[in-house]
Amino acid sequence: MEKINLQSLLKQMSIEEKVGQLVQLPTEFFKAGETTETTGPLEKLGLSKDYNVFNTGSALNVTNAKLIKEIQSNFLANSKHKIPLLFMADIIYGNKTVMPIPLAQSCSFDFEAIKDCASLIAAESYNDGYHVTFSPMLDIVRDPRWGRVMESFGEDVYVGKQFAKAMIQGFQGENSKLSSGHLAACLKHFACYGAPLAGRDYGAVDLSLQQFYEVHLPAYKAALDNGCKMVMTSFNTINGVPATGNKWLNRKVLRKELNFDGVLITDYAAIKELVVHGVVADEYEAAKLAMECGVDIDMKTAVFANNIEKLIANEDLNIDLLDEAVLRVLRLKEELGLFSNPYRGLEKPVSEQSVEDKKETVLNLARKTSVLLKNNGILPLDTKKKIALIGPHAELKGQFGMWAFLGERELSVDLKSALEKYFTADKLSYAEGSNILLDYSNLGFSTNAGDISKLFPVKNQEDLEKEALAVAQNSDIIVLAIGESMMESGEAASKTDLRLSQPQRNLIKKLAKLNKPMVALIYAGRPLLLSDIEEYFAAILYTWFPGTYGNIANAEILVGECNPSGKLSMTFPKNMGQIPIHYATYRSGRPIIADDVAYRFTSRYLDCSNAPLYPFGYGLNYSNFEITNIKSNKYEFTKDSLPIISATITNNSDIEGCEVVQLYIKDDVASISRPISELKATQRVQMAAWQSKTVEFKLEIEDLKFYNNELDYNSEPGTFTVSISNCSNDLENHVIIKLL
Ligand code: BGC
Repeated sequence: MEKINLQSLLKQMSIEEKVGQLVQLPTEFFKAGETTETTGPLEKLGLSKDYNVFNTGSALNVTNAKLIKEIQSNFLANSKHKIPLLFMADIIYGNKTVMPIPLAQSCSFDFEAIKDCASLIAAESYNDGYHVTFSPMLDIVRDPRWGRVMESFGEDVYVGKQFAKAMIQGFQGENSKLSSGHLAACLKHFACYGAPLAGRDYGAVDLSLQQFYEVHLPAYKAALDNGCKMVMTSFNTINGVPATGNKWLNRKVLRKELNFDGVLITDYAAIKELVVHGVVADEYEAAKLAMECGVDIDMKTAVFANNIEKLIANEDLNIDLLDEAVLRVLRLKEELGLFSNPYRGLEKPVSEQSVEDKKETVLNLARKTSVLLKNNGILPLDTKKKIALIGPHAELKGQFGMWAFLGERELSVDLKSALEKYFTADKLSYAEGSNILLDYSNLGFSTNAGDISKLFPVKNQEDLEKEALAVAQNSDIIVLAIGESMMESGEAASKTDLRLSQPQRNLIKKLAKLNKPMVALIYAGRPLLLSDIEEYFAAILYTWFPGTYGNIANAEILVGECNPSGKLSMTFPKNMGQIPIHYATYRSGRPIIADDVAYRFTSRYLDCSNAPLYPFGYGLNYSNFEITNIKSNKYEFTKDSLPIISATITNNSDIEGCEVVQLYIKDDVASISRPISELKATQRVQMAAWQSKTVEFKLEIEDLKFYNNELDYNSEPGTFTVSISNCSNDLENHVIIKLL
């Protein structure tokens, strides 16, 4: 590919043309061949009517290949330097084919399968002409009130690092070379967007620097270490300073410490919000601050477009900062090969997998993402029994979650159709049973039609219940497909009550009176609070939002064709008051001894145990795995020769299955108090019936390091308790090893 001389291109560009490269506008500005059409949008966005749309650097969320091609061709015909537009979009976990939501994906602990799915997304998106995806979201989340937890990998640092690496490798391809079939990834939201106080979206983040480096930074860092091309700033403040106007965060941490030389884009209108945060007086100052912070692209505002030229003319901004930012944008265009082929992907598509192969790739992940939370033996279902399939999710297609706008609903498989493969018509009856919500208007969504009730019609709840009771009466087992509406999680979907909706809870209680075994299949974008309903169920399978083919996997699990192996990547609380809750907590000088008021003066609640309903790392299966015989090949070691920790895993059942074996470490004594345990490695171990295997984990010195109060990152000599387990709450199987 011919290399273009970016420095000489830069020299030919006027300031106005350079500024354009830093502006990102949505579709309506680029309507093919209709320059005058832009007047309306220009005014709406606050851009001057003199703004030349054909200087713009990138386009946001254009919805299809045809439009991308038209826009690019019209753009190039009108732009002076013929610098192609970059097309960026929110293709977070699926384009046409949609994967289970990221929070579900991380429950698989199968990072190869996650990578394969990211490659599939990349190929579909490449062929549609997209260049950059605003994914992965790498914000660690320990508070399920925050609705965007569905886009995250959950609560754990180790999982975050593995997830980041898999997504970047899948999207960007081998060595992040962006070869055909791949996209540039944009990690988000830098930084700590997932930790707003009280779980309220866009809220302030206030945390120690030690937490920042130790808990929040590693996933972002792992993505950058794997060559992630772009970073998006976050909306929130961190310790008082908004991320988009935060010099320490962007210049010192991102550019210097993490060595990032790629493009930094703001989140949607985040530069403008610097004024609302009260750290600058007006948009002129906002543009100056963002430029000084090393921000390169202003997403969907007029702040850069209206102010950078003035800032330079007034000598309030050094032109070098502008050049630096423009070069970064141009370099990304070049890396993507856009100067030689602005229609990348559109003219020479890569051959995609066949629909059947795609289905297999997705199923290979989806079979591992649903988590079996409870089972008294009712599962797998006996297909000779009469099943009443009830619930508002049972016949629903396209359970994609909020962030899969391009997903093809028609491709997707609903649970009822998936189960029909295994049950004859006389054995499977269905009733909707309940609305998910009785009122959608308070979710704050408007539709083009202006009437939310058209999009989510609410039916007569009494009629639905009556029908469900009749169907259930005539069955042996009730399978309930219930959960959140997809609009209840995602952006701007923080909640204070994480129980299932009232109509669904009522339905459960009424059905329970029939005294038939009930199985719940729960669809949701976050860990819900299940304490008040879990007792009614003989089994609970938590399937999150499973994407295009997830219900095929769910049906396989329900009938025992697939043995579930998902493990929770996020703790499920027992009580709202326990939130935020996660397993890797810090120690207390007065740890809880027992749930007993006799131990009042310990670190506990008076009205609820400290324990979650379901802990991190937890998940049942149909086999019976046992982990024994943990040992280390040495009990004293130095930094240069670390031990191998091993254990025996046995399948005490005649059912083949897979266990996610987890290694946890506790630094017993250190210069600062360390968490009670931290996950450091996992292995999915496939086990035949009655098989025994040895699993081995080679420790790395990184596993023993931490940030002290001076922010030095190091390991300290002394003992470590190392456990091998299948859940974070059972660390009995351990060895004590000593770093000399
Ligand atoms: C979200 C981002 C997203 C952007 C562009 C924002 O509201 O926070 O995650 O990429 O919109 O659509």
